[in-house]
Amino acid sequence: MAIRIVATEPYPDQRPGTSGLRRKTRVFETRPHYLENFVQSVFDWLGDPGGCTFVLGGDGRYFNDRAIQILLRMMAANGVGRVLVGRDGLLSTPAASHLIRKYGARGGFILTASHNPGGPEGDFGIKYNIENGGPAPAGVTEAIFARSRRITRFRVLEAPDLDLSTPGETRLGGMRVTVLDPVADYAELLAGLFDFDAIRVLFAGGFRFLFDAMHGVTGPYARRIFVEMLGAPADSVLRGDPRPDFGGLHPDPNLARCRDLVARMNGPGAPDLGAAADGDGDRNMILGPGLFVTPCDSLALLADRADLAPGYRGRLTGVARSMPTSRALDRVAAARGLALFETPTGWKYFGDLLDAGRIQLCGEESFGTGSDHLREKDGIWAVLFWLQMLAARGTGVRELVHDHWCRFGRDYYTRHDYERLDPAVGEGILEDLRRRLPALPGTGIGGARVTAADDFAYRDPIDGSLSEHQGIRLLFDDGSRIVYRLSGTGTEGATLRVYMERHETRELFADTQEMLAPVIARGREIADLPGRTGRRAPDVVT
Ligand code: G1P
Ligand code: ZN
Repeated sequence: MAIRIVATEPYPDQRPGTSGLRRKTRVFETRPHYLENFVQSVFDWLGDPGGCTFVLGGDGRYFNDRAIQILLRMMAANGVGRVLVGRDGLLSTPAASHLIRKYGARGGFILTASHNPGGPEGDFGIKYNIENGGPAPAGVTEAIFARSRRITRFRVLEAPDLDLSTPGETRLGGMRVTVLDPVADYAELLAGLFDFDAIRVLFAGGFRFLFDAMHGVTGPYARRIFVEMLGAPADSVLRGDPRPDFGGLHPDPNLARCRDLVARMNGPGAPDLGAAADGDGDRNMILGPGLFVTPCDSLALLADRADLAPGYRGRLTGVARSMPTSRALDRVAAARGLALFETPTGWKYFGDLLDAGRIQLCGEESFGTGSDHLREKDGIWAVLFWLQMLAARGTGVRELVHDHWCRFGRDYYTRHDYERLDPAVGEGILEDLRRRLPALPGTGIGGARVTAADDFAYRDPIDGSLSEHQGIRLLFDDGSRIVYRLSGTGTEGATLRVYMERHETRELFADTQEMLAPVIARGREIADLPGRTGRRAPDVVT
């Protein structure tokens, strides 16, 4: 088998976003060497991998199969010693992160566009994770991007496709290829963190549970862990077969996208716990009967109840949340004497805090929760943590959440997204706010006064790096907060996200949009959203 050096032209747009290089599938499929250029840029940045091990897998979306074979041939041609690849090219994002750590791999490639739709008209993506198992930090993605601007050739082995349908060992040129059961190592890790016996007792007692895998990669994980290992009834897993187009739907676990699950959780005889995960298995949604648990509250609850899980008992010293995530976590941290870190949006900012042992739990408002057990957010892990809390406390989701609000108050929270805006309009909204920032403190708007206003910048306490322009943040004297930022994961135009919240200690059981109505109105007025976007309402309300 010969190594071929293929001439190529650089693309100007291969800068990874919040989470890897994400584009329309047709960009990867039809632009010559679009994938190859990015992969070679990673190896050019890495230098000689010197026989190291790498992990490879994806969420099974359309083009996953072909991309996996291209990557295998390029890895072999670039001197990779061994690759661990999931059976049929499947690995959830958290499972890939764990494999990198467990097998001391140099890094890994994860093929996913997460919760974005799949298929020829959908999205595809590739993400490089470093040796701690986490997404490449900004300095690394910038260096890879710089290489992609200068690329002139890539290396690839001339070889036929490998059969990845059965676990076992094979070779590709000089490279060892290990096809792994995608679930086994990951399930073993989780079994060490939670009291599986207690959860088994819970299910044996008739506890009713629904998990929506959304035709993403988590179906096989959910069947093995919840059904086979923990004894949940087989029909607990909805949409459990991974499909290349996710059944034509958006594999994003939220109230709008999980219609059946939500209907059953809100209907008569609702199960005790409902949950869902996204296409690549790192996001989660938690529901009780007739109750949606916001990701912000879920994170705060886990931090407060961490002692209920054997893997976390007595171990918590610090927690972190992304800046736009509600301050519910801050209240738990203050009460429990935990260090609290506020980072920019994106899991990559948690990595070195976790590595340094400064935090053990972290999360984002965008349905992401995780811990130091690996270096990605982890959907199945979050569901297990909830099962653990319910098993240990012997109460329901509603009781746990209400008890939390009674003790800490409730952080009413919502996010409004304006999608597919003209990028100039999106940038214009933020630029205008930025320009007006110095004049805002002290001004009264819609019944409240601005007490502080800034353009969030983060100095990483471990490596000292500075990340600027991470969102406009406004604090008000009624305890409310509004944050504006542009999405870094979209593939079409610009998406403006407006995050709004208010802490409330008396009226704990009201409707979120109603409670936040004055804050929402204020948020629209300050940024003149109707005028600038030409829209009367946001496209998505979470
Ligand atoms: C979104 C979320 C962010 C998350 C990322 C990857 O990024 O807001 O919290 O880390 O997806 O799942 P955004 O599109 O806002 O840049
Ligand atoms: Zn995801």
